[in-house]
Amino acid sequence: MRRFSADSRPLLVALALLVGVALPGAARAADLAAGQKVYMANCMACHGISADGKGPAAASLQPPPADFTSPSFWASRDTAKVKSVIKTGKPGTPMMPFTQLSDQDLENLVAFLESKKP
Ligand code: HEC
Repeated sequence: MRRFSADSRPLLVALALLVGVALPGAARAADLAAGQKVYMANCMACHGISADGKGPAAASLQPPPADFTSPSFWASRDTAKVKSVIKTGKPGTPMMPFTQLSDQDLENLVAFLESKKP
């Protein structure tokens, strides 16, 4: 039997790695698309179609909406913090609480926001 000789091991390892990389990648793409839908329905008016804080309603808001494409935004925040501020809102600012989002919606939404991280 030559099929499982030592020579073919690197090939098998490479195949396993490829499958391992491709599958989570596919799952993540689906989550991002779902997250984008939630974003467009709930956040876009203020945070902008490109998530850069320049939505149609942004000009009249003080403080201005957060820019998710900015390095300084992400420098001081992690996933858990972003998730909790979406749920609770930011008192004293136009950033309202979004308590109606399901855990899955919130998960997908935050994945979408993180995909804007530069
Ligand atoms: C009515 C306008 C408005 C809507 C709608 C809105 N936001 Fe905001 N959001 C703001 C403003 C204004 C700020 C800036 C608050 C600040 O700088 O203190 C903000 C800040 C944030 C922050 C950063 C908070 C911090 O300082 O850590 C996150 C994260 C965020 N919004 C996510 C969202 C998400 C996700 C949605 C949709 C589910 C959403 N926002 C909908 C106005 C809005």
